[in-house]
Amino acid sequence: MIGDKRIVFVGGKGGVGKSTSAAALALLHSQHSLKTLLVSTDPAHNVGDIFHKSLHNQALEVYPGLDAVEIDPEIESKNYIKTVKENIRGVVGSHMQEEVNRQIDAASSSPGAEEAALFDRIVSIILDEGKHYDTIIFDTAPTGHTIRLLTLPELMGVWIDGMLERRKKRNDTYTQLLNDGEPIEDPIYKVLQRRKERFTAVRKIILNKKLTGFIFILNPERLPIIETANALKLLGRHDISVNTLFVNKIISEDTDGEFLKKRKENEKEYLSKIENEFPAQQKLYIPLFETDINSIGLLEEFATHLKTRIFESK
Ligand SMILES: Nc1ncnc2c1ncn2[C@@H]1O[C@H](COP(=O)(O)OP(=O)(O)OP(=O)(O)O)[C@@H](O)[C@H]1O
Ligand SMILES: [Mg+2]
Repeated sequence: MIGDKRIVFVGGKGGVGKSTSAAALALLHSQHSLKTLLVSTDPAHNVGDIFHKSLHNQALEVYPGLDAVEIDPEIESKNYIKTVKENIRGVVGSHMQEEVNRQIDAASSSPGAEEAALFDRIVSIILDEGKHYDTIIFDTAPTGHTIRLLTLPELMGVWIDGMLERRKKRNDTYTQLLNDGEPIEDPIYKVLQRRKERFTAVRKIILNKKLTGFIFILNPERLPIIETANALKLLGRHDISVNTLFVNKIISEDTDGEFLKKRKENEKEYLSKIENEFPAQQKLYIPLFETDINSIGLLEEFATHLKTRIFESK
C-alpha cells in the first residue's frame, strides 16, 4: 500500500499528470495527519502553479501539514561547486589553487554536472532535510530523466569506486616513498568515501520496498502505455519495482456527442490493453475533469479519487 511508504516517487511520460498526481497524493497524506514534503525535481516545475505559490529551493508550506520545494538544478550546481572548492581548499598548495578552480569551473559546465548536483540535493533531502517529515513525495521529470536519476547511485558508486581505487594506489606509493611507510591523511579520499557512503545509504532506502514506493502515471493512449511498459522493464533491471499505476484522464461513461463517444470507444481498447499489459500492478483510475486541475479545490476533488485505495491494503 502506497499510503504507508515514507518515500514515494511519481513518474511517467510528459504531460500525463505527474505533478497533479504527486500534489494530490501529498495533499491526501497531509489530510491523514502525515507531515508531508512534496519535492519537484523536474526542471520545468509546475508544483508551485498548482498551489498558486511561488516556490523555491527551500521548503514552504502550501497546505496545512504539507510543504513543497522546487529544486533548481542551476542553484544546486552552484552550491555544489562551492562545496567542492571548499573541500579542495587547503588540500592543494596555494599556487595550485587557481588552476584547480579553473578545472572545477570547466567541469561544472560539463554535461551531467547539474544532474549530479540535483542528485546530491535529493540525497540530502532523503538523509537529512526530510527527517522532520513522515512522507516525502517526489514529482519527477518525464521518464528518461527519472530513470537516470534513480539509477545514478549505482553509476556514481562505480565511478567513485574507481576514483577511490586510484587514490588509494597513489597514496600507497606516496606512503612508501615519502612517508617512511606511515599512512598519509588524504582529505579527498575521505570526501569521496563519505559521498559513497551517502549514496549507498540512499540506494538502500530506495530499494527498500517497505520504505519506498514508485507510482507511474499514464493515460489510456498508445504512447504512454508503451513508455510505461519500457520504463517498468528498465527499472526492473535495477531492482526497482513499480507496484502502482494511476490511469489518468478517463473519459466519463455518460458523454454526449459523436466525437466523445468515438473517443470513449478508442479509450476502452487502451484500458483493456493496460489491464493485460500490467496485471501485477495496482491500478487507480482518475476521470478527465472538465477543466485543468488549476485550484486547490479541484486538487482536493482529484485526491478523493485516490483516497480509498491509497490507505487500504491491496
Ligand atoms: N484528470 C485530469 N483532468 C483534467 N485535466 C488534468 C487531469 N490531470 C491532469 N490534468 C491537466 O493536464 C495538464 C498536465 O498535467 P501535469 O502538469 O500534472 O502533467 P505532468 O505529467 O506533470 O507534465 P510534465 O511532464 O510537463 O511535468 C495540466 O494542465 C493538468 O491540470
Ligand atoms: Mg510535471
